[in-house]
Amino acid sequence: MLTLETKNDMPQLLILPSQLTIEARDGETLMEAAVRHDLYWPTTCGGQGICTTCLCVIESGQENLEPAGRSERKTLVAELGERAQGNARLRLACQARVRGNVTVTKRGVRPSSPDVSA
Ligand code: FES
Repeated sequence: MLTLETKNDMPQLLILPSQLTIEARDGETLMEAAVRHDLYWPTTCGGQGICTTCLCVIESGQENLEPAGRSERKTLVAELGERAQGNARLRLACQARVRGNVTVTKRGVRPSSPDVSA
């Protein structure tokens, strides 16, 4: 498991299946935390909440994310239809704000520069 700059007093994010662990600042989005740690998180719209490319599955700690706002829910339903209805585990990483420890699954998350794991 690769651990990047973690501190015990900050929310911890475990990203699967890459098994990257990073810390997040309170209120930061999942994607913001990843990018701040020089990780690539798949996106098409650049974090505007309209493409769903950043979609991830919350494995645990769902209660440690701020609830999805109106625009996030609207995008999820528009892009995913019934799959998104009532499934609070599906979140947009560019919109989901962290308040505590969370484990997510998102394929394609990886260090964006080769030396980040050194
Ligand atoms: S990056 Fe496009 S919806 Fe999140």
